[in-house]
Amino acid sequence: MAKLEDLDFIFEMEKRIFNQPWTKESIQNELNKSNNTLNIIAEINEKIIGYFFSHIFGKEVHILNLVIDIPFQHKGFGKIFLNRIIKEHLKDVNIFLEVKRTNLPAINLYLSFGFQEINIRKEYYSDGEDAIEMVKKVSNYVLV
Ligand SMILES: CC(C)(COP(=O)(O)OP(=O)(O)OC[C@H]1O[C@@H](n2cnc3c(N)ncnc32)[C@H](O)[C@@H]1OP(=O)(O)O)[C@@H](O)C(=O)NCCC(=O)NCCS
Repeated sequence: MAKLEDLDFIFEMEKRIFNQPWTKESIQNELNKSNNTLNIIAEINEKIIGYFFSHIFGKEVHILNLVIDIPFQHKGFGKIFLNRIIKEHLKDVNIFLEVKRTNLPAINLYLSFGFQEINIRKEYYSDGEDAIEMVKKVSNYVLV
């Protein structure tokens, strides 16, 4: 789980990765929330290489952020990290997220996990870019 002491690492990574990063205060607020959040860090040899922030409302989870730090991207870590999070924490819930329409690495990652595109939100981001809304529903199929 992500802790308040991880704040500086997460904020530095956030600034490296995004043109419009979350503020330090907004990350701190998320880390301070004790209810309805699932915030997890990815570590290699006790070094933080990524993070995942989400809100949970009953059977619905909303992914706020999923990041793998630049030197560790495209090596399979995002896939391993998301797979572990879903298996350990999100097996029986519907998962929602928004992703920039141009963010192909992330969109491809989510598609490979069975997320489906359900909506386009025009000019959703402050830089004017559209968001694709995606969902991964709990499977209704039961093997008999
Ligand atoms: C999106 C992100 C978490 C993926 O993590 P990663 O460790 O780089 O991804 P992986 O190496 O595990 O690749 C997993 C899948 O993502 C997709 N992917 C990864 N890099 C890609 C690229 N450059 N172009 C297209 N698809 C790509 C592929 O589908 C890949 O599966 P494959 O290797 O079987 O083809 C990472 O790139 C990242 O932190 N990006 C910046 C932050 C961000 O945009 N987060 C999403 C916010 S919603």
